[in-house]
Order: sequence, then structure tokens, then C-alpha cells
Amino acid sequence: MAEAPIKAFVCGHPIKHSRSPLIHGYWLEKHGLQGSYEAVDIAPVDFPSFLRSLEELGYAGGNVTLPHKEAAFRHAEKLDGAAERIGAVNTLWLEGGHLCGSNTDAYGFAANLDQQLPGWDSARTAMVLGAGGAARAVVHALQERGFDEVRIVNRTQARARDLQMRFGGSTSSHGWDEIEKLLPSTDLLVNTTSLGMAGSALLDISLDGLPDHAIVSDIVYVPLKTRLLKDAEARNLRTAEGLGMLLHQAVAAFERWFEVKPEVTDELRQRIVHDLGG
Ligand code: ATR
Repeated sequence: MAEAPIKAFVCGHPIKHSRSPLIHGYWLEKHGLQGSYEAVDIAPVDFPSFLRSLEELGYAGGNVTLPHKEAAFRHAEKLDGAAERIGAVNTLWLEGGHLCGSNTDAYGFAANLDQQLPGWDSARTAMVLGAGGAARAVVHALQERGFDEVRIVNRTQARARDLQMRFGGSTSSHGWDEIEKLLPSTDLLVNTTSLGMAGSALLDISLDGLPDHAIVSDIVYVPLKTRLLKDAEARNLRTAEGLGMLLHQAVAAFERWFEVKPEVTDELRQRIVHDLGG
């Protein structure tokens, strides 16, 4: 008897702007798999009952996005190390009827840099702008890669301090007014705030103080090339754009449900860029 197609979902509220169905649909087709990946809009109040009905709905697992990542963390019966450290779940799957959770954002961040700038992790000192969920994933990735110093800089310094308490070790916390002073000793700068995203304010910092060998990475991908990345290129610094993190976090999730490790190809990248109107 032929095996039933594997079903996966992405759930959020709202969900219509998610590019995940396009990414996973591309890989399903590429690998000739019978599975499906569909977007479902679930309001926060309905999220717990949605999770309880996954088996009945025939899902092997799925992605969760805003605003459900923390709730998914609380509801998962088993968590992997990354989800535990980050405190949020973006990937769920069922194992023997138990709900398991992972966070593939940290993997996605590091794998994107591995692909775009091999050897990037020989950098020692990183500055992470922002202290939200995305910052937690990036800080976890940088600690995993053994960075000596991870400086968390946030407008609301108390949130940066919370992250420092959470991750300890190589992390330190700083206010926005310290950026200029810290830049000359920064090898890798990562923006995890929403600044620079279409519809948000610009990230208005001068990169003059960064050393010539510095790498600049943005997790914002609309627009593809943010003002931060343009400024970095104007200074001849190496850069990594945010779309890659979105694509690579999906690799680890796809592999979890469909048991095939897909590739982030230029063709896939182009399709998403086209869909974003670029
Ligand atoms: P996410 O979980 O996606 O990272 P978040 O928790 O809302 O989102 O975090 C957004 C980040 O962008 C925060 O670090 C936020 O700074 P505050 O903690 O001070 O709010 C940062 N951010 C948003 N708008 C900003 C602005 N105008 N200037 C500086 N930082 C900003």
C-alpha cells in the first residue's frame, strides 16, 4: 500500500504574507514528494485547541510564526536544545503522539552565513542590535559558534540585560548610545530589530567606526537590500542579507517532516525575490 502523503502547515495570525508555502512547495516539487504544506490562520485563542487536533487533522508537524512562537514553546511536551535556550518554538512535529518543538532560526542564521560568507565564524566579537525573539536566536547561534564576545545592544537596555542574564557567558548588554564606542572592536554586526523594514523607520547608525574586515548582516529582508547593507557595501564591507536566514531556517524544518535535506538554490532565492516584488 502506498504511504499517505506527509502533511505540514505554517500557522500564524495573520498568515497571508508568509513566504513559507512557496519555499516548502518549491522543495516538495523539486524532490517529487507527495506531501503538502499549507498556511493556516489561527487566532491566539484557538491555538491550544489547534495543537491538540494536529493528529486528527493528519499533520506530521508544521511551522509556527507570529504571534505563536512563545505559546508553542509552552505547549510542546519535548523541546530540543535550541528551543530550550531561545525560549521560542518555530517548528513542531509529532513523535509517538507527543508534541515536540525546535527552533530552527539559529540554525538558519548560521547556515546562511556559512553559505554566503564561508569562514565568517572566525570573527570573535559580535554586536547584536535588538533584544526580541530574533535576537535570542542570533545570540544562541553566535554562542554555539564560540564567539568570545556577544554584545547585545538595545534601545530599551533592560531587555538587553534580560538577554544577557538568559545567555550569560560571553554576552554583555548595552544601550543604543554605546554603539559608536563599540564599533571599532566589532568583527560582526547583526541587525535583528525591525528597523529598516519596509514601513518601519530606518536604522540610522554610522558604520564609519567598523574595522575594514567587519561583516554586516541584517535579518530584515523586505527590502532585500536594507539601508544598513547598502551603507556597509559602500564601505566595502562583506555583507549577508536576511532572506537567506528565512530560507535556511526552512531547510531544517523541511528535513524534520519530509526526511529530505533540501538545498537553498539561486533558483529558489530568485523565486522568493520575485514574489517579494524585487
Ligand atoms: P522580534 O521578536 O521579531 O525580534 P520584538 O520582540 O518586537 O520582535 O523586538 C523588536 C526589536 O526591535 C526590539 O529590540 C526593539 O527594541 P525595544 O526592545 O527597545 O522595543 C527594536 N526596535 C523596534 N523599533 C525600534 C526603534 N525605533 N529604535 C530602536 N529599536 C527598535
